[in-house]
Amino acid sequence: MENQETFRLPRINEPAPAFTAITTQGDINFPEDYKGKWVILFSHPADFTPVCTSEFMAFASMEEQFAEANCKLIGLSVDGLYSHIAWLRTIKEKIEYKGMKNIEVKFPLIEDITMDVASKYGMIQPGESNTKAVRAVFFIDPNSILRAMIYYPLSLGRNFKELYRALIAMQTADAFSVATPADWHPGDDVIIPTAGSCGVAKERMETKDPDVHCYDWFFCTKKLDKEKVLSTILKK
Ligand code: BEZ
Repeated sequence: MENQETFRLPRINEPAPAFTAITTQGDINFPEDYKGKWVILFSHPADFTPVCTSEFMAFASMEEQFAEANCKLIGLSVDGLYSHIAWLRTIKEKIEYKGMKNIEVKFPLIEDITMDVASKYGMIQPGESNTKAVRAVFFIDPNSILRAMIYYPLSLGRNFKELYRALIAMQTADAFSVATPADWHPGDDVIIPTAGSCGVAKERMETKDPDVHCYDWFFCTKKLDKEKVLSTILKK
């Protein structure tokens, strides 16, 4: 019973599992050290592997962009600290890939040889590997609540522009009490939450507000200016 509780997958809207860890940037006490910030906690299968290297270069080159959106990055694999340090040094000193070079990974990379943290976050998925973390991504909000997660297999590199889009979309949903439709980007129309009753929905359908458009009673959007979104969300 205790094992089932310890190793069950974390769920959306639950508190992010707490841990302390050694990282390439010193010890961290999570989530305590990150209160008030969004965090993307992500795992990769192994240091010195090609897909992971391409991912770290892509993510590290976007770190500043995530920081402007009040979001810190934390990586994890079940490798040890000295492997992490050697791998990140190799990336900086030797790897040039798709126009990226001299890439310094400044965010912490957790050593998790014991798999303690990986187990708490369901990153070890035996169907894929008993000894490596899958490519998991957890979005954790400033109140340390898990807001979204993705799991990818070992062979599939992640799309870091999509992670950024998802972060901005969640922050927009929080700030403006709206939802975001498929493929939304700042400047696109947003979705007004479905009206609770038929009467309210009908009233909304008949609105004269030029910024609101209803496709049917259950599907209404409104304009939300890109500048308004970005000035609310991004630190200047
Ligand atoms: C990679 O990052 O290239 C990789 C890591 C583990 C398994 C397969 C691929």
